[in-house]
Amino acid sequence: MRFDVVTLFPEMFGVVRDLGVTGRAHAQGRWSLHAWNPRDFTHDVHRTVDDRPYGGGPGMVMMAGPLEAAVNAAQDARAALGLGRAPVALLAPVGQRYDQAGAESLAASDGIILICGRYEGVDQRFIERCVTHEISLGDFVLSGGEIAALAVIDAAVRLLPGVLNDGDSALQDSFNDTLSGLLDSPHYTRPEVYEGESVPPALLSGHHANIARWRRERSLALTAARRPELLESARAKGWLNKADERFLAELAGTYDPASDAPKRRRKSSSKPAASSPATPDASS
Ligand SMILES: C[S@@+](CC[C@H](N)C(=O)[O-])C[C@H]1O[C@@H](n2cnc3c(N)ncnc32)[C@H](O)[C@@H]1O
Repeated sequence: MRFDVVTLFPEMFGVVRDLGVTGRAHAQGRWSLHAWNPRDFTHDVHRTVDDRPYGGGPGMVMMAGPLEAAVNAAQDARAALGLGRAPVALLAPVGQRYDQAGAESLAASDGIILICGRYEGVDQRFIERCVTHEISLGDFVLSGGEIAALAVIDAAVRLLPGVLNDGDSALQDSFNDTLSGLLDSPHYTRPEVYEGESVPPALLSGHHANIARWRRERSLALTAARRPELLESARAKGWLNKADERFLAELAGTYDPASDAPKRRRKSSSKPAASSPATPDASS
């Protein structure tokens, strides 16, 4: 899988190319990254890539010409490798929200050309001529598209076959079909008692079915509390079984994430467990 990124800051992409899970996968040749700097496609001595907006107003706008030339160079480089024309996605707050389904379909593809805007954005004529998709990371405004592109790349690369050490671990993540599209359950690791707080007994039981049920119920409860629309979607797809529905009926809007926790050794907050590093797999 190949990513081409059009960016004024190619050095930012060392974060996914060199570090962590994505860095290891890159070193193994499972994916590649090619950065194209629009400044390399300018023809003036100042290597100008931006200019003032027509109609006035603050800030600068990225010019269409250098961006289009960079996209063409990326498509040509891909064609020389026998790859088909890639989709061209502009990172933009006005785009469609990136989600797990987007990451999955990207991971199943040959790759994409990502355009990182800066300043006030990019000339609309470039969007109309070259861009096939606009992708948003969320309802906030970043200084540039690079951080959004890094997120897009990371979420897709970790789904490529063989990238994660434990082949199943992506399947156990939030939003995955294996989890019925629900939120992940809380995780615990050593020590067994931390600052007076014990690991929930079900996870220490060694009983695979009980552990699976505990995780499922925590996942259902957390999703009901925080993302009820994901629960509705799972229900509509027929992914909730009778035990799930019974649990949800009992829950009846009174979710207490500590309800299955052992008696506390000291008084503590009843905040839901925050996400934590991967836990040793008590079910294996
Ligand atoms: C300062 S922003 C421009 C924001 C633009 N004027 C607007 O209000 O929609 C500069 C660049 O950052 C990127 N960007 C900012 N927020 C983003 C988001 N939520 N998702 C994806 N890209 C974003 C885009 O590439 C954008 O062109």
